[in-house]
Amino acid sequence: MIGIFDSGIGGLTVAREVMRALPDCPVCYLGDTARTPYGNKSPETVTRFALQDTEFLLDQGARVIVVACNSASSTAVDTLRKTFDVPLFEVITPAVETAVSLPRVKNIGVIGTRATVKSGIYERMIKERDEQKRVFQKECPLLVPLVEEGWLDKPETRMIVKKYLLPLKVRQVDALILGCTHYPLLRGIIQQKIGKRVKVIDSSQALAQALAAFLEQNPALKRDLSRDVPSLIHVTDVTEQFQTIAQRILRKNVTLTHVSL
Ligand code: DGL
Repeated sequence: MIGIFDSGIGGLTVAREVMRALPDCPVCYLGDTARTPYGNKSPETVTRFALQDTEFLLDQGARVIVVACNSASSTAVDTLRKTFDVPLFEVITPAVETAVSLPRVKNIGVIGTRATVKSGIYERMIKERDEQKRVFQKECPLLVPLVEEGWLDKPETRMIVKKYLLPLKVRQVDALILGCTHYPLLRGIIQQKIGKRVKVIDSSQALAQALAAFLEQNPALKRDLSRDVPSLIHVTDVTEQFQTIAQRILRKNVTLTHVSL
């Protein structure tokens, strides 16, 4: 099984791409809905939660871990790699590599939660690859609750997105990284407000491709992952809201399993 965790619902956008790229590999998803959001918590707390999430997935039989949460990817991955001897994928690297590989992109915008923006990880990783790039970041704390309320196309959401993106628009960014699991659900509005010429980057497809390529090179592991067990979605708190949004993201009926960590 491929173990995927997020602070809650947003990581299902990553799970959806992994399921598309690797239809024969069952996914074991954990959404830590009881403790979401991670994005406004301290790095120490996010790391503690991420350790527990990973341990849970490994106990369920996961052989590969995907950290689908940007906030956890930006603060906890080093500790996870030191603690667990298992292939581990995060969502920052694929977005950074996509952004730096684009032609004619000099100014890169990054939007994310407070935890992600404060960590400075996107800027660091982009500059490590190309120090000529200029990086402009903006934390957008109101977008996660708006998505969780299902306010995906409300005038208020459009207005808030516009306000958040204004400083990046003024800087004339050429590419914009969606540095939070929830933002792909607002992609249409974000593209509209930042402008058509800006390349909007969502890491989930690139991550799924990187994972698929890794498994092609590790056929024994891939065979092991492809065992005939159903994909499962675990949550630490069951809510109607999660069920509705999960079905919207995965475009199918989902059954949630409640777990305590
Ligand atoms: N999953 C989080 C992220 O990608 C967003 C929600 C949260 O703050 O927990 O940063």
